[in-house]
Amino acid sequence: MPKIVTLPGDGIGPEVIAAAVAVLREVAPDLTLEEHLIGGAAIEETGEPLPAETKKAVREADAVLLGTVGGPPDSPWNRLPRPQRPESGLLALRRMMGCYANLRPVRVLPGLEHLSPLKPERARGVDILIVRELLGGLYFDGDRRLDGDAAHNTMRYTRAEIERVARVAFWAAEQRRGRVTSVDKANVLEVSELWRGAVQDVHDRQYRALTLNHEYVDSVAMLLVSDPSRYDVVLTENLFGDILSDLAAVIPGSLGLMPSASLGDGPGLFEPVHGSAPDLAGRGVANPAAAILSAAMLLRHGLKRPALANHVEGAVARALRAEPTADLGGRASTEAFTEAVLENVQVMSGA
Ligand code: NAD
Ligand code: IPM
Ligand code: MN
Repeated sequence: MPKIVTLPGDGIGPEVIAAAVAVLREVAPDLTLEEHLIGGAAIEETGEPLPAETKKAVREADAVLLGTVGGPPDSPWNRLPRPQRPESGLLALRRMMGCYANLRPVRVLPGLEHLSPLKPERARGVDILIVRELLGGLYFDGDRRLDGDAAHNTMRYTRAEIERVARVAFWAAEQRRGRVTSVDKANVLEVSELWRGAVQDVHDRQYRALTLNHEYVDSVAMLLVSDPSRYDVVLTENLFGDILSDLAAVIPGSLGLMPSASLGDGPGLFEPVHGSAPDLAGRGVANPAAAILSAAMLLRHGLKRPALANHVEGAVARALRAEPTADLGGRASTEAFTEAVLENVQVMSGA
């Protein structure tokens, strides 16, 4: 019986994780699901954003399903020393689990083009996989300081860190359309110069059959939303990937449609791309699709049950065609949308 640890967290996290858990229970009744604290919710209970009890449970898990962490801008959590804030709990979790490759798929499914603010002919058929490096760069370098009126952070990568995430991007491209676009700022940054060379070397050594090109991040930001069909796999460093993936959410129509899988050498962490949406929390209107689709990624990558993953993804697509949530211009509440997904799961399994 695989053990799944769920970490609902803050804001809309508990609402969307409840939906994902209902779907997991329906399609995979053999799973053991165990809930633990993270983020602001954990700070309130224990004083720490990633308590020892949560770490212990995660170490014993086969996969982890995360909600969201963080409070509104005026939250007292934002005045704590940085390592004690909710977001630091999530970063510590990613580091502890060694999840260095974050897969963020961006898809416009047939019949859902109307949910995109892009012209239907631009949105149609878009199928991009953003591979974001998740444990390096500005986020994790210890050389950081806020010192009165000056502050600094350091963007540092080693060749080994770049090569391991590049291999994930090429591995994914092999199963897709065989094209990787590596995104950097090599016209300005030394780190990007190293990045570009290391990615090219992995390609030339191991993946010559695939197509690799290199583009600058500023240009990609424009092309991603004006001509998204030109991309298959987009590989980039931590901060660029964070920004580009929220931007890419415009293509399907909402952050509420963006799931992700954070993978490394051990068990994976599955997490929606969106945050805790304090403006929606407690209102029952959040879109649970990103969390449910993250659970589907857990089934595919974490438990190697691709048929179940496809099944869940199909049920979400059908629910979206029927009546989406408010972020997509629809009227479904979180609960009604989740019910629709559950019904479709049952119909599709012939129950
Ligand atoms: P956000 O992603 O929470 O919200 C951005 C916008 O998208 C808001 O208008 C929100 O209402 C909407 N939105 C997001 N998810 C949605 C959903 N499932 N359904 C419908 N609409 C949705 O970003 P933010 O407002 O910049 O950040 C809020 C808090 O979340 C901050 O504390 C931030 O640090 C944190 N955050 C956490 C994560 C995470 O846990 N992985 C990710 C991003 C931000
Ligand atoms: C995300 C979030 C996180 C990140 C924050 C909350 C630490 O924005 O998962 O995209 O920047 O990685
Ligand atoms: Mn983000």
